[in-house]
Amino acid sequence: MSIRRLPEHLVNRIAAGEVVERPASALKELVENAIDADASRISIRLVAGGTDLIEVTDDGSGMTPADMALALERHATSKLPDSLLIDGAIEAVATLGFRGEALPSIASVARLSLESRVPGAEGWSRIVDNGALVGEGPAAIPPGTRVRVEALFERVPARRKFLRSARSEYAASLDVVKRLAMARPDIAFSLEHDGRRVLTVAASETLPDRVAALTDRGLIENGIGVDLEREGIVLGGIAGLPTFNRGIADHQYLFVNGRPVKDRLLTGAVRGAYAELLARDRHAVVALFLQVPGDLVDVNVHPAKTEVRFREPALVRGLIVSGLRRALDEAGHRSAQRPDAAALELWKSEPIAPPTPSPHLWGEGRGAGQYEAPSPALHAVYDRRPSFAAPPPQARAEPAYQPPPQTERYPLGVARGQVARTYIVAEAEDGLVLVDQHAAHERLVLERMRKAMAGGGVASQALLLAEVVELDEPACDRLEARAAELAEFGLDLDRFGPRAMLVRGVPALLGQGDVVGLVTDIADELAAFDEALSLKERLDHVAATMACHGSVRAGRVLSVAEMNALLREMEVTPHSGQCNHGRPTWIKLAHGDIEKLFGRK
Ligand SMILES: Nc1ncnc2c1ncn2[C@@H]1O[C@H](COP(=O)(O)OP(=O)(O)OP(=O)(O)O)[C@@H](O)[C@H]1O
Ligand SMILES: [Mg+2]
Repeated sequence: MSIRRLPEHLVNRIAAGEVVERPASALKELVENAIDADASRISIRLVAGGTDLIEVTDDGSGMTPADMALALERHATSKLPDSLLIDGAIEAVATLGFRGEALPSIASVARLSLESRVPGAEGWSRIVDNGALVGEGPAAIPPGTRVRVEALFERVPARRKFLRSARSEYAASLDVVKRLAMARPDIAFSLEHDGRRVLTVAASETLPDRVAALTDRGLIENGIGVDLEREGIVLGGIAGLPTFNRGIADHQYLFVNGRPVKDRLLTGAVRGAYAELLARDRHAVVALFLQVPGDLVDVNVHPAKTEVRFREPALVRGLIVSGLRRALDEAGHRSAQRPDAAALELWKSEPIAPPTPSPHLWGEGRGAGQYEAPSPALHAVYDRRPSFAAPPPQARAEPAYQPPPQTERYPLGVARGQVARTYIVAEAEDGLVLVDQHAAHERLVLERMRKAMAGGGVASQALLLAEVVELDEPACDRLEARAAELAEFGLDLDRFGPRAMLVRGVPALLGQGDVVGLVTDIADELAAFDEALSLKERLDHVAATMACHGSVRAGRVLSVAEMNALLREMEVTPHSGQCNHGRPTWIKLAHGDIEKLFGRK
């Protein structure tokens, strides 16, 4: 056996295995090169998701014919600062590229045509087909560079086989362009797919504008600005309200020193910041920009450069978690403000009530999951409670509607009534507010408990008559074992024979509720808990279970005073805009929305 050096074209093809995984990764390299060349406008064309053609045109510095030849050679780059050549400090690199291998790698697995022109000279073109130069000559192009990649992986059947549909390759490419465009609001981008313009953003927008243009206007309306610094690390950007969540994590845009990254440490930190505000299967929407001194971060972890390694991961994680938490705390009672578009649509298409109402009017002829017929008991309640009655009609001049004076003071408005014994209807200065009373109360209980636990424990309200709750023996064992911890939550109980517990006090903040139900559910909850975990670590679960038995359950009739008390408490409680599972606790239909529903606008 003899050892031989690999020929250059084979070395490139091996490198291509890592750098060019799919069309989107080739596209990423080409756009990064255009950004590094100080382009102010980058135009991209794709055919069949990039599997047939990827073309990137920029108005950047361009290359001389001699540089073009070098650019296609392996380990040739113009991006090394002199300091790096002297002491090898890769940290000093400020460009997106630095390895000098993207172009030769791509050229080794596709047909690549490179056209370039520096200002004041003629343009030149070089065509390389799967690693072999097949042509060169003058090219008539404006200053800048155009790279065209065709027939990617056509000679690499093993790779070609793994390409997914043009549609999913396109989706991946669009994602790449969005992320790079988000990092550089000063550059104009356009993307055309199969002859159709799919994205255009003009240069010199502000960062929030660029983020909004590339994600969704909703993020700006339902997001909170983040801007903080700790030990030289700067974190900026926009964090979506927890209620503005998504089913997939694809809507998290993370950048380190202007480079889009998909990094486990960072996504984990975002997840940590939103823990307890979101259900496990929901994901926050964020665009976060981290500026880290070069010597604290290593981007040379993988050839695709989408992962980074931090010298002080704990510091970075802590900064993100505490920074986002603080921003979210400041959001207070805010909640996603756009009522779900589909729900609004449904509302809009509501048929006008037929002239002869039948008792089943609300229950039949509508899709599942919609409004349920109110029980006769509800009517009885309405009839008994004068405070729910509609205010007497008043004659007033058309546009001269004045909100009642109190509404101005309260963002969540003044309670006007209750619907289905589940939703509070309130009138705010700027619209109609609907509150899910149970979800809201559950959140308030969690936040009250969190505060109380931080201050040494939840106060217990002694029962006038201790109550005996009968349960099976294992359930009693579990409650007994956790009695001391439960006392911290304000639940004061003792063993009372083999199959019963004696409850002496309940958490004061719950109000008088159903003691048997509460203790039974807590016992069930304990069965599901990992015994190693303290109840404090499961605070959100305990609070949710307790809140279910608090005074503001769904299905309970509330007095106007109770409703207003709930609204006022929501206004001053952090995170009260979302329930413990990230769903909104309240929505607002602005006056403008109402007018639209009635076709008045
Ligand atoms: N669009 C462009 N405009 C001007 N010069 C370019 C352009 N694309 C590539 N180059 C030149 O070609 C060189 C090689 O590009 P290539 O992408 O292969 O390597 P790199 O960008 O230096 O490093 P990396 O492999 O990390 O991307 C670059 O250093 C740059 O000088
Ligand atoms: Mg490059």
